[in-house]
Amino acid sequence: MTSPTGYAPEPTTWRILDVAPAPAADHPDAWAFHGIAAVDRAIETANLGYDDLARTEQQLVSGMLHQEYAEKRRFVAVLDRADDAAPTAADVVGFGLLAMNREQNTHTADLYVGVHPDHRRRGIGSALAEQAERVAADAGRTTFFGWSLSAREAAEGEEALVPATGAGRLPADAAGVQFGLGRGYTLEQVERVSRLDLPVDPEALAAFEAEAREKAGADYVTHTWSGIPEEWYEGYARLMTRMSTDVPQGDLDFGEETWDAERVRVYLRDRADSGQRLLTTVAVHAPSGEIAAGTSFLLQDGLPAFVFQEETIALKEHRGHRLGMLVKAVNLRELVTRYPDTERVHTFNAEENAHMLGINVALGFRPSGAEAALQKRL
Ligand SMILES: CC(C)(COP(=O)(O)OP(=O)(O)OC[C@H]1O[C@@H](n2cnc3c(N)ncnc32)[C@H](O)[C@@H]1OP(=O)(O)O)[C@@H](O)C(=O)NCCC(=O)NCCS
Repeated sequence: MTSPTGYAPEPTTWRILDVAPAPAADHPDAWAFHGIAAVDRAIETANLGYDDLARTEQQLVSGMLHQEYAEKRRFVAVLDRADDAAPTAADVVGFGLLAMNREQNTHTADLYVGVHPDHRRRGIGSALAEQAERVAADAGRTTFFGWSLSAREAAEGEEALVPATGAGRLPADAAGVQFGLGRGYTLEQVERVSRLDLPVDPEALAAFEAEAREKAGADYVTHTWSGIPEEWYEGYARLMTRMSTDVPQGDLDFGEETWDAERVRVYLRDRADSGQRLLTTVAVHAPSGEIAAGTSFLLQDGLPAFVFQEETIALKEHRGHRLGMLVKAVNLRELVTRYPDTERVHTFNAEENAHMLGINVALGFRPSGAEAALQKRL
């Protein structure tokens, strides 16, 4: 092919490499993780116009070191260098992430493939996905999950991709979904990505909290923690176990993930090693001493402008007391008080999770994107 300038472009070749864990982000062996992070930022910026959702180098390095509950593999696509020198971060043009649960859901594998926007439609994504799927299949995994972010949902009347749940619609040209469909995945579910721009009106927030507190009554007491105190690990583990089954997940073939205090400890250690911290509010049912509901924000060291709204759950036996709104309103009040530099909050919810979306919309969250949940069964 000849370029518009009349010069034939240099043929570029690339290859896929397996990435070994690196001891720390500033270690020379971490070059591939720096390459992955740079590609991830480029993908997010091209897609959404900002890179808040991209994984940091520290997160990628730590995630690979923490394989207590899932076996992980990372692959990079690197451009071949004319001088035959060893590849560097700047040569990375794509990556594949694979995670396979060790204890439960051992039939499943999580896959994510990303290719730099300047290097697409050359088969790099396919080669990365093939590599990850082959490793997963060799490990006996028969259900693969993939995720793909779009900048928006499809507009009314626009040609759209509709998931099996029927809730939510994606633009027909969503690259990641088309890529997945072409590889035999089905579009199972659409998650709404929402964003809350701060500041919130403190009076409106106080009113939500007061109303929820009144409805909850004196039996429910809230606690807010920066990091979870060890004596509450067990109770928090119960919330996380329920989180794996109680949130709507369409036909995604994913069963319960049992958490215990040790798993909470490992999870928090991974967060800390990733440069992340939790701000958590729980509602404790005073008569039983049980954690009935909880919610967390995830904060990233060195990136104070945004946080993620993580899991929010009220246990089934404690529903109907407005505990979801209570813990969310309290945690948000604590966030703006303790971390006044925060400018925005990002969150993801299944489109069919009307109850949680209702709470978020009331608090001021607005749609900012859509995520496809893809599944392939061998
Ligand atoms: C999805 C993604 C990884 C594809 O990477 P890529 O290197 O362009 O993929 P390939 O060149 O191997 O494409 C293979 C096929 O997928 C389909 N495809 C890829 N991008 C497409 C698009 N924008 N529109 C329609 N089909 C597309 C085509 O059938 C393509 O074959 P073709 O080029 O011969 O027509 C890339 O677009 C990306 O990084 N997107 C953001 C991350 C993401 O959503 N990942 C989801 C996968 S878990």
